[in-house]
Amino acid sequence: MRKKIVAGNWKMNTTLADGVKLATDVNNLAEKNPTKTIVIVAPPFTHLSEIAKLLTKVHLSAQNCASESSGAYTGEVSVGMIKSAGAGYVIIGHSERRTYFREDNEALFKKTELALDLNLVPIFCCGEVLSEREACVHFDIVKKQLDETIFKFDKVRFSKLVVAYEPVWAIGTGVNATPEQAQEMHKYIRELIRGKYDLQTAENTTILYGGSCKPSNAGDLFKNNDVDGGLIGGASLNAADFMAIVKSIP
Ligand code: PGA
Repeated sequence: MRKKIVAGNWKMNTTLADGVKLATDVNNLAEKNPTKTIVIVAPPFTHLSEIAKLLTKVHLSAQNCASESSGAYTGEVSVGMIKSAGAGYVIIGHSERRTYFREDNEALFKKTELALDLNLVPIFCCGEVLSEREACVHFDIVKKQLDETIFKFDKVRFSKLVVAYEPVWAIGTGVNATPEQAQEMHKYIRELIRGKYDLQTAENTTILYGGSCKPSNAGDLFKNNDVDGGLIGGASLNAADFMAIVKSIP
């Protein structure tokens, strides 16, 4: 069954104390406002185990994982470590990882495979940069990103992951995709999934939108048939704003 999800990607923000406070506030609001929507927070690695202990209504995600399972990789954090810290999800392929840390599709495939091996749910990101949209190749770009990564999985494995469409030009810029642009790309991605697998798999896949999503635009974005929730950056650092976005899910 397709699920509605709102996930907060805190990126490299909050000290441990600030993160514990933010997670506590989000969890308290989630307790007071029961919803069928799956609410997820993705704090920095250092906060995971502490925050895992306090969450009752909110799920926990890491923002990244290593492309190897263990060994001499100084500074890396494995899926096993993430799972043992209490997280159930991991964001993979965020555009900031692709751009600043040069993560390519091969590495992203390996990360996703390792996460699936441990039953961590990957939130797999894709999306075009501005010049690609302006050149009208955004559909081709997203297709290539998916073809070279998650479309290599068989249907059973694919059906365990969540897709996030995040147009890079909308991330942290204050310029969100219009609801029409988001719906158009989400529908396209769902059609690709149908072509690659089958109708049922396509219908069951959760596809999140990310990029300058905030309380004022979330409702219009989420009312589209193929937009199943959001991956929220900046607005997830404020518990009230984040939960207002959660409440915008129809
Ligand atoms: P933003 O970030 O909401 O701050 O644009 C979204 C994301 O990077 O996931």
